[in-house]
Amino acid sequence: MNRVHNFTAGPCTLPTEVLEEVAAEMADFEGTGMGIVETSHRTPIYDAVHSNALDRVRSISGAPDNFEIAFIPGGATMMFSLIPLNLLGGGGRGGYLGTGAWANRALADARRCGAEVYSVWDADGPTAIPPAEFHLEKDTRYLHITPNETIDGVRMVRFPKVEVPLVADVSSEYLARPIDWNRMGLVYGGVQKNLAPAGIALVFVRTDLLEGERLLGSATNLSWYTANRALGNTPPMFQIYLMGKMLRWIEDRGGVAGLEKASTEKAGMIYDVIDASGFYSSPVPAEIRSLTNVVFRLPTEDLEKQFVAEAETAGMVGLKGHRSVGGIRASLYAGLPVESAATLAQWMRDFEQEHSSTG
Ligand SMILES: Cc1ncc(COP(=O)(O)O)c(C=O)c1O
Repeated sequence: MNRVHNFTAGPCTLPTEVLEEVAAEMADFEGTGMGIVETSHRTPIYDAVHSNALDRVRSISGAPDNFEIAFIPGGATMMFSLIPLNLLGGGGRGGYLGTGAWANRALADARRCGAEVYSVWDADGPTAIPPAEFHLEKDTRYLHITPNETIDGVRMVRFPKVEVPLVADVSSEYLARPIDWNRMGLVYGGVQKNLAPAGIALVFVRTDLLEGERLLGSATNLSWYTANRALGNTPPMFQIYLMGKMLRWIEDRGGVAGLEKASTEKAGMIYDVIDASGFYSSPVPAEIRSLTNVVFRLPTEDLEKQFVAEAETAGMVGLKGHRSVGGIRASLYAGLPVESAATLAQWMRDFEQEHSSTG
């Protein structure tokens, strides 16, 4: 088998051993004579898979009992709409912290839904560090934050302390960073970086925030998912099944603390090369650099193109920066082995040595 070093920003690499286990079970799940994707979601066979994912999500995340868990089809983008529709259904306003591209999309989508939302603070590029305190307008029900900006490579080091519950899009750090549940109202993210194949959002929502009637159809109403263990209709079974396997894999590696330690180690290897070099540069100040999306520049765009192309030939894929910002981005999610980060770091040193005079 030929596995590349996969630095894609999501969907991204999953551990080979998890994929192999899934492949082995694809046509015959646990002696049932059928694959899990061929099984009715109303059978005890699938129910056990579903419960396994829910139970492990709760134990690894440490989410307390006053949070419900749901799997929402449509990914994090679906949540950009469902959050204001569900949390502002009874009135009030949503504040949004504009840390980067994804935070801006969350706010834009909430506006498209006609919700009463506003920008609390807006970063002017990836070098802006959010202030320590924010002014929230009257009747604000939640503050939306994006602790890790996948495109800009920016990490919010401390979650803001405010009077209202936080709503956090943790897509690109899911279960790789401890959560202070006392400050949270809703935590969500696409699962396609750390946890599973793309297509769903994993959502934690504080029960009291869903109280009261809302004029929403079932599939847009978060209460409908939480009331039915996310089994109100046919759930995205393959994602949930594979997530259960990833969660066991994460548990075996020390849970959230284990993933955070691994991210810190992998990111450190790449930032060390950047910081020791006059060739690579980081557009992000050291104190707010992402641990999962390391963005950097080379002296010219031509060198960046060459870097991406030669890296690919050397077996390292997915290094091109997001089309909106350019440059290079190495995404270092849960499934990426430490050896892949080490291989890239060494290769960067070699590339610099070969090309530093041409910049
Ligand atoms: C921080 C963040 N939020 C939201 C999204 C959108 O996720 P989805 O594609 O699941 O809608 C992404 C995707 O990369 C992301 O990184």
